[in-house]
Amino acid sequence: MLKRARIAVLVSGGGTNLEALLNAQERGELPHGEIVLVLSSAAGAYALERAKNHGVPAAAAVRKGRPQADFEADLEEKLRAAEIDVIVLAGFLSILSPAFVARWPDRILNIHPSLIPAFCGQGYYGLKVHEEALKRGVKVTGATVHLVNEIPDGGRILLQKAVEVLPGDTPEVLQRRVMEQAEWILLPRAAELVCAQLAENGGLNHE
Ligand code: GAR
Repeated sequence: MLKRARIAVLVSGGGTNLEALLNAQERGELPHGEIVLVLSSAAGAYALERAKNHGVPAAAAVRKGRPQADFEADLEEKLRAAEIDVIVLAGFLSILSPAFVARWPDRILNIHPSLIPAFCGQGYYGLKVHEEALKRGVKVTGATVHLVNEIPDGGRILLQKAVEVLPGDTPEVLQRRVMEQAEWILLPRAAELVCAQLAENGGLNHE
């Protein structure tokens, strides 16, 4: 039988990208992967509800009010207990240390709501990215899925898709267009790409 990569999706908020991943899985578009765990860095994140609605185990590993090392130890323990192969950051807004990232080489994917290297780096997350794109007056923006590795700014770009900026756009309107036309399409495709590579190259932890 085909071995499937065990995926954990890490979230912090609304979880529309998580929803896109779960829907893609239910349509059979993730044949080399299986979403087995959702972890949120915030206790009340709506993404946790979405996971439960799809029957996927979900838990919080809370970031707020404790040292980074404790937060990461909590994450690591939950990921190892679930024998995770691939981590998908889907609107996960906590920073992971280089040491954490180094333990998961080429196994962490992140989605960012711009065409990297534009509008990325410290402080660029969520709506802020679209605010800055509009301030600068760019006519095209988009989304990027990339691998997260420990080298500074590291991580190979896996997929990108351009999205038009239209006259009169607000950050909210632009954010929604980037999600609909790019993020929700790219993230499941990139997850499948990484899972297929691991499955075919004997890179799964639970073999
Ligand atoms: C998404 O637009 C995602 O690209 C962005 O946060 C939003 C989360 O939405 N991520 C970043 O800015 C990461 N630097 P969601 O919770 O509805 O998926």
